[in-house]
Amino acid sequence: MPSAKTPPVINLRGLVKRYGQGDAEHTVLDGLNLTIDKGEFIAIMGPSGCGKTTLLNILGLLDDSDEGAYKLNGKNVEELSSAKQAKIRSRDIGFVFQSFNLIPRLSVIENVALPLTYQGTHKTKRLEAASKVLKTFHLGEREYYMPYQLSGGQTQRVAIARALVNNPSIVLADEPTGNLDSRSSHVIMSELAELHEQGNTIIMVTHNPDLTSYASRVIHMLDGKIDRDTKAPRVKKQTAAKRPLSGSRKAKKDSK
Ligand SMILES: Nc1ncnc2c1ncn2[C@@H]1O[C@H](COP(=O)(O)OP(=O)(O)OP(=O)(O)O)[C@@H](O)[C@H]1O
Ligand SMILES: [Mg+2]
Repeated sequence: MPSAKTPPVINLRGLVKRYGQGDAEHTVLDGLNLTIDKGEFIAIMGPSGCGKTTLLNILGLLDDSDEGAYKLNGKNVEELSSAKQAKIRSRDIGFVFQSFNLIPRLSVIENVALPLTYQGTHKTKRLEAASKVLKTFHLGEREYYMPYQLSGGQTQRVAIARALVNNPSIVLADEPTGNLDSRSSHVIMSELAELHEQGNTIIMVTHNPDLTSYASRVIHMLDGKIDRDTKAPRVKKQTAAKRPLSGSRKAKKDSK
């Protein structure tokens, strides 16, 4: 629970983002105010083009806003040098973005272990951690495959395993289950739910209303603003979500 001493993980005040110039200029984030406390699981919804990905990019320090203030753990992070921003990104933030590609020259396990390199973890420990998270994602048998030998869905799961290998305190997920079948989606949602149970903060963009049942709060965006912001009673879906993976057809039915 956040105390008076702990600043919110994320605090946005009057955030504006514009793209284009002159006649082509358009405002994508239009004076957005948002406070997110540690341990929240936020689902962001809203029509295509309303600014969801733009918002996640700014939250993840991959892009800058044009106006307003962004405080991350109480710090004005947009004012930091890019080296300091990069350090925050690698230490605290896990990105689960569909467009994040694997490095083709590296095997699956090396790709997943990569974020730990930036943290200075010893090689044996890195590979152990990568192997563990790959097993969670049912990719244990693919550890020494090269990325070109994987299917599209497997590639996406490896990219997600890589995003979560260093147990980031903030996870930014942009339609994390977008292209996946329901079994793979369950694996990923269970993993996010588990990170949330451990006290980490999850911010997930989704078009799928079913997935909002994992969230403690649902934010609807419209035209670069927050349209609705609803706290949801948390439904414990984790166990049910995990059941079909190990279980029989009957277990699958029971979990519905
Ligand atoms: N680099 C860019 N240059 C110019 N316009 C951009 C850029 N990135 C995004 N936009 C525009 O900003 C608007 C918001 O885009 P954004 O990707 O944030 O939408 P979104 O809510 O994530 O949509 P979707 O649900 O389709 O992913 C869109 O109109 C888009 O065309
Ligand atoms: Mg988007």
